[in-house]
Amino acid sequence: MVTSGIQTESQRAGLEHLVRTLPKVSLHCHLLGSVQASTVVQLARRHRVDLAGHTAETLYDHDSYEDLGEFLRVLDVVGSLVRDLDDLHRITYESLTLGGAAHQVLHREIQISPPGHPGVPYPRLIEGITAGMRDAHTDTGITSSIVVGLCREDSVSQAMEIVETVIEHRTDEVVGIGLDYAEVKGAPAQFAPAYARAGAAGLRRTAHSETGPPRHIEVLLDELGCDRIDHGYHVVDDPRITQRCVQQEIPFICTPVSSDIGRYSGSGDGSHRRIAQMVDAGLKVAIDSDDPPMFGTDPTHDFRALARALGYGLEELAGFTRNAVDACWLDASDKAALRHRVEQQITALASDAAAPHD
Ligand code: ADE
Ligand code: ZN
Repeated sequence: MVTSGIQTESQRAGLEHLVRTLPKVSLHCHLLGSVQASTVVQLARRHRVDLAGHTAETLYDHDSYEDLGEFLRVLDVVGSLVRDLDDLHRITYESLTLGGAAHQVLHREIQISPPGHPGVPYPRLIEGITAGMRDAHTDTGITSSIVVGLCREDSVSQAMEIVETVIEHRTDEVVGIGLDYAEVKGAPAQFAPAYARAGAAGLRRTAHSETGPPRHIEVLLDELGCDRIDHGYHVVDDPRITQRCVQQEIPFICTPVSSDIGRYSGSGDGSHRRIAQMVDAGLKVAIDSDDPPMFGTDPTHDFRALARALGYGLEELAGFTRNAVDACWLDASDKAALRHRVEQQITALASDAAAPHD
C-alpha cells in the first residue's frame, strides 16, 4: 500500500493539477443522480412544481440522507421533474459536458433508470438522451453510451418487461443493463431470467453490489453473467472470492465519495478502507462518482479524495483509468482508439511531472 501523505504546498498543487487533468473514463454515473441542483430548481419552475421551499443550495443535503433509501426518494423527485425531450436533452448534455468533459472524462457509459422516469415512454427517453449525447459529443468530443438499469425494488416480471422493451427498441447507443435502487429490497439471483434474456440479445451486464455479502458477487458473475461489478466492496470479506476476482481480472467500479457518505466502502471517515483493501489485494478497480452533485462530488473530486486519503499518485490514478478502459463496453476498434488517447494524455502528464518546475 502507498502510504506517503501529501504534505507540502507544492505536492498539493501537483496533486491538484494531476487530478484535474488526468484522463477519465466514467462507467458508474447515474443520469438522474447527475442533475445539478440549479437545474432541478429550474425544471421545477418550468413545470410549476413546488419544491417545498428548497433552493439550489438546500436541495441536496447529503448529510441528511439517513440511508440509501432516503437518498433514492430524493432521486424520485428529480425524476418526476424530467418530463419531455428538452428536459432529457438538457440533463444528459449537462452531465456529459459540465459533469464530464470539463473533468477530462473522455467516455461515459451513462446509467439510466426507466422506472425513475414515470410517464415517459422508453423510446422517448432514449430519443431525448441520445440527442443530448450527440450534442455533447459535437461540442466537447466526449463519447458515451447507455446502460439501462433494472430496478431491484420492482418485481422480477417488471424487470423482464424492461429487458423486452430494450430489445424491441434496440439501438446502438444502449450497450448493456445494470441493476440499481435499494439492494435490501431485491436480492440478485431472482433477476437471473431477465439477465439471461438480455445476454442472449447481446447486451452486456453489470449490477450494483454495494451493501451485499461477498456471495452476491459470485451470483452476479455466475448467475447473472456480469462482466463487471458496480461497487463490490464486500468482496474483500472473503479471501477465496477475492482471489477468484483477481485471477479473472473482474473490474470493480467504485465510487469513493458517495460510498463513504453511505458508510459502505468504509466507516464514513474518509479513510476509504475497503477500496484500499481492494487495490492492495490486486483487484481491478476503477473510479467514478455515482450521483455526483447529490453527494457533493464530481469526477475530479473522487480521484482527489482517494489520492489524499491513500497517498496515491500518477501511477495509481492512471491505473484506475486504464482499468476503466479495459472494463468499458466499446467495440474493439473504438476501445483501442480510446486507449490510445488515454495513453497519450498519461504520457504527457508523466513528462510534465518529471520536468523541473520553478
Ligand atoms: N441510483 C439508482 N440506484 C442507485 C444506487 N443503488 N446507488 C446510487 N445511485 C443510484
Ligand atoms: Zn450507483
